[in-house]
This record gives sequence, C-alpha cells and structure tokens, in this order.
Amino acid sequence: MNHLNDIFKNNRRWVADKLKKDNQYFSKLAEGQRPRILYIGCSDSRVSAEELMGLAPGEVFVHRNIANMVPNTDLSAMSVIKYAVNILKVQDVVVCGHYHCGGVKAAMEHADLGLLNPWLRNIRDVYRIHQQKLNKIGDEEKRFRKLVEYNVREQCINVIKTAVIQRAWKERGVRVHGWVFDIGTGKLKDLKIDFEGILSHIMEVYRID
Ligand code: CO
Repeated sequence: MNHLNDIFKNNRRWVADKLKKDNQYFSKLAEGQRPRILYIGCSDSRVSAEELMGLAPGEVFVHRNIANMVPNTDLSAMSVIKYAVNILKVQDVVVCGHYHCGGVKAAMEHADLGLLNPWLRNIRDVYRIHQQKLNKIGDEEKRFRKLVEYNVREQCINVIKTAVIQRAWKERGVRVHGWVFDIGTGKLKDLKIDFEGILSHIMEVYRID
C-alpha cells in the first residue's frame, strides 16, 4: 500500500505548493472550466496529456482510451466530442497517437485477446484501408510507426465525420488536428492532416443538413 500512501502525501504537497503561489488557486478552478482544446489520446501511462503539452488544469479537455480510437458508435467518445465542442466550445480537437503503442502493436499481431478483440478490430480496419502501402514496408518497426500515423489520421476522419464537428466548423471554424508523440524522444509531431480536404471529401457522403 506504500505507493498509494505516497500519492496522498504528494497530493498534500501539491496543494500546499499551489496555494503558496496563489491562495485562490482552487477556488478559482472550482468556478468552471474554459479549455480551448479537446485532446483524444492513448491510455498509455507514458503518454500524459497536460504534461507533454505544458498545459495546466483547466486548459485541456481530455479523453483517453486504448490506442486513441474514435469508433463511430462509441458513446463515450461521441459524448466527449459533443460536450467539448457544443458546451465547452473548444476551438481545436486533437487526436494524438504515439509510437510504441501497445494497442496498435497488438492489432498487428494475431493473438486472441478476448474482450479486446472488437476494440483492436477497429485498428485492423485501419490496417486494411492502408494494407497495400503498409505491406510494402519491409521493416517491421517502420511499418508499426506508419500504422500509428495512419490510425491517427483515420481517427481524425472519424471525428470529422460527426455532425457536431461539421456544424462547429461552419459556425465558428473549429478544426481537427492529428499529432503523434514519440516516447523515445519526448517530441510531439504534427501530422498536418489536410483538414479542409478531408472535410470536403467527407461531407459528400457524411453530410447532415
Ligand atoms: Co498506446
């Protein structure tokens, strides 16, 4: 239980530290949140959300799951997008994947992981969409990294498909971004997805008037 006791000790130290700098810190936080970004990332313990972006509590709305997925029928992810965009009025939505992602790796292998199978199948769908290009990459590590990037792109497309994003883009220019975090270097990379290009392509099929 020692590691849990440490957490409460850490918390008391953190509270004291914050209050020393600003004795209103927590009462101000309690008044409400106005994050400008929705961050959708992986649950991986090595990939923090706020810390790697240098943001403080209150500055980013966060959703995390295995391999930063945005399945169309996932009520949790869809609710987060709806709430962040329509109620909190975030300006940017980020899907952030990461190299060395265990979820993406598992999807490249063929082990039966029970309950995880349908979740990983969403990543295998990404593999299937980009199968020809991926199969041409002989080096396994490079193929793995490329799949991480394709997965981010496909999850961005899933976000852009939603009526919530299409409306918010029209009304106030909300945008979607795809990033990858490299655990090996600590660096964030912007995949520079062509948001407008994807959006116009998407709207031909997925538009909801
Ligand atoms: Co991961």
